[in-house]
Amino acid sequence: MTMDSSGNEHACTAAAGAPVANGNSSSSDEQTDKFQMLDQWHSQPRKIRIVHVGAGATGLCAAWKMERKLENYELVCYEKNEDIGGTWLENRYPGCACDVPAHIYTYTFEPNPNWKSYYAYAPEIQEYFANFCDKYGLRKYVKFKHRVVGAVWHEDRGQWEVKVEHDGQTTTDWCDVLVNGSGLINRWKWPQIQGLHSFKGDLMHSAHWDDSKKWDGKRVAVLGNGSSAIQIVPQVQNTAAKLTSFMRGPTFITPPMERVKVDVPEKLQEADMPQTVLDPFVMQKAYTDAEIQTLRADPDYLLLYRKKIEYSINSNFGIFYKDSEASKMAGWYMRDIMKKRLKDHPVLTEKLIPQWAVGCRRLTPGDGYLEALIAPNVDFTFSPIERVDETGIITADGKHTEIDMLVCATGFDMAWTPHFKLLGRNGVDIKELWSPQPNCYLGLAAPGFPNYFVMNGPRGNLGNGTVLPCLETQIDYVCAAVKKMQTDRIKVLDVREDITDSLNEYVDAWCETSAFSAPCRSWYKNNTVDGKPMVWGGSSIHYLKTIKTPRWEHFNITYLDKNPWSFLGNGRIHAETISDFDGMTPYLRNADTPWELV
Ligand SMILES: Cc1cc2nc3c(=O)[nH]c(=O)nc-3n(C[C@H](O)[C@H](O)[C@H](O)COP(=O)(O)OP(=O)(O)OC[C@H]3O[C@@H](n4cnc5c(N)ncnc54)[C@H](O)[C@@H]3O)c2cc1C
Ligand SMILES: NC(=O)c1ccc[n+]([C@@H]2O[C@H](COP(=O)([O-])OP(=O)(O)OC[C@H]3O[C@@H](n4cnc5c(N)ncnc54)[C@H](OP(=O)(O)O)[C@@H]3O)[C@@H](O)[C@H]2O)c1
Repeated sequence: MTMDSSGNEHACTAAAGAPVANGNSSSSDEQTDKFQMLDQWHSQPRKIRIVHVGAGATGLCAAWKMERKLENYELVCYEKNEDIGGTWLENRYPGCACDVPAHIYTYTFEPNPNWKSYYAYAPEIQEYFANFCDKYGLRKYVKFKHRVVGAVWHEDRGQWEVKVEHDGQTTTDWCDVLVNGSGLINRWKWPQIQGLHSFKGDLMHSAHWDDSKKWDGKRVAVLGNGSSAIQIVPQVQNTAAKLTSFMRGPTFITPPMERVKVDVPEKLQEADMPQTVLDPFVMQKAYTDAEIQTLRADPDYLLLYRKKIEYSINSNFGIFYKDSEASKMAGWYMRDIMKKRLKDHPVLTEKLIPQWAVGCRRLTPGDGYLEALIAPNVDFTFSPIERVDETGIITADGKHTEIDMLVCATGFDMAWTPHFKLLGRNGVDIKELWSPQPNCYLGLAAPGFPNYFVMNGPRGNLGNGTVLPCLETQIDYVCAAVKKMQTDRIKVLDVREDITDSLNEYVDAWCETSAFSAPCRSWYKNNTVDGKPMVWGGSSIHYLKTIKTPRWEHFNITYLDKNPWSFLGNGRIHAETISDFDGMTPYLRNADTPWELV
């Protein structure tokens, strides 16, 4: 067993007692150049160290999957926060909930029959991930309050040097594979508004909510009408003395859709008190005890229920083709319902209802949002904000709105680059290389940044449905890559630039046909109106199909050893080393079924 200067064991030698000095040296005799076999079995996995940045939904899933799919590896998840959860730990603003039904906002392999409501609120989602983490003992992989501040690629070693900040000190870690699961929507930012920080009242950001501040009976301003504002406004309006909504442009509010019904058996129906939804525009719904019992009692039924929800969402993808009949119908329907909900308010119907295609911005169920905007204690303005002073907001029309609390629901820094400095091949900074546009392969890899994977990266499936199946499949992809590097003794896996360019040609062409390229401002286009959408070119299941099978021919490969066949080892396979009866005879069958030699 050998250690490199960073203290890491180099597995190929450790595992096999092979005659190489470390994982990066050649198995050939350098003086005679004569091939020297490795003393290992065929495809014996070399040890690999993986650093994963973040312990949100992605980090936990990575820890879970790697335990089940990999062997002879080390994993550490560095997490800047004091707990797991990411999005759901940090976003605690009033009304924060998922925008897809909770039964499909779960890991695909870990259903939860106990969701309390159709769209679960942030604390319950956080509890789901915490339970998952503890049920499978995943905390052991996480180093909390450790922020990754930089990573530099070292070609000679085929490794990343990772700088980590903890308790005011910076330490160095090394890894063979770097996985960036630090969250696309994790870097919240204050809006650039003159005088914002001179405000003497409570200054809040949706993604950095201070629970100790109360708004009851106060005058509150909410900036923005994105997904966060849409959820905040009705909650605050309920008890605030006055709420003023500052908006810059139009947005679609998803109309009430038929909920997928739980078929409660007769014997449970008698005792049940079905919840009557009195307001047809309320989409949220608490599950009754009988419904939860029904879902708990039968895992097959729960699966069917989840599939029905997923199917209905996948079936609606047609609306994202901007000139399609489905898009026109959806636009007509949504505009009509918005008009009704706004009670034909002359200004709001003109300024809030978009003319661009449905789906250009993320669609959010806005329970009670439009109703709140026309409530007596609510005012709104589309006049641009000029500045903020100690007591309120001054708009371009010269009006000064006095407030006690200023809520910025103004979104995130969507620069698409990692939340830490990343220097790839030849010291190239990803921020420079990816300016003005990211150059990402399938939303998960980047040419020039070998052995690096980004989860939910640009040009992944970000625009529709739930991201969880996508991030799970991306992690499967990473596991497959790690396994290949281990068994084939690959030192460097670098996705090809030409292939990535060609892929982007496809995605650009697709985006032109889609609602994402309509003239709205959205974070898909880095908060611009006419930028390139950084979403996938197709439906979410189209994306899953694309990444389900890795295409290794899209990567430039450098092997650890001079001779790429050294993984063949000493001429035996693993089953032979342990005299495994079935393992040594799997191809003898009664029918032509698949077989494998491990
Ligand atoms: C308010 C809100 C609601 C959402 N609702 C939905 C929804 O309904 N459906 C849906 O599909 N998606 C939704 N999303 C997207 C959501 O972010 C993803 O569904 C999912 O939670 C992403 O998980 P993640 O682990 O990839 O990222 P995150 O949850 O963002 O976790 C990333 C983790 O990385 C850590 N981290 C970041 N930088 C560093 C660093 N430098 N060093 C160490 N650690 C670091 C963070 O602290 C965080 O814990 C929502 C997003 C927001 C903001
Ligand atoms: N599950 C959910 O329901 C949910 C909830 C919250 C967030 N999310 C996810 O997170 C993403 C981000 O949502 P978000 O609402 O936080 O951000 P967002 O969608 O980027 O919306 C930000 C809003 O703030 C406005 N704004 C930005 N800067 C401003 C400024 N300087 N002055 C005035 N207004 C300003 C924007 O105006 P413009 O319209 O002019 O750009 C926009 O209306 C969503 O798209 C979604 O993917 C999901």
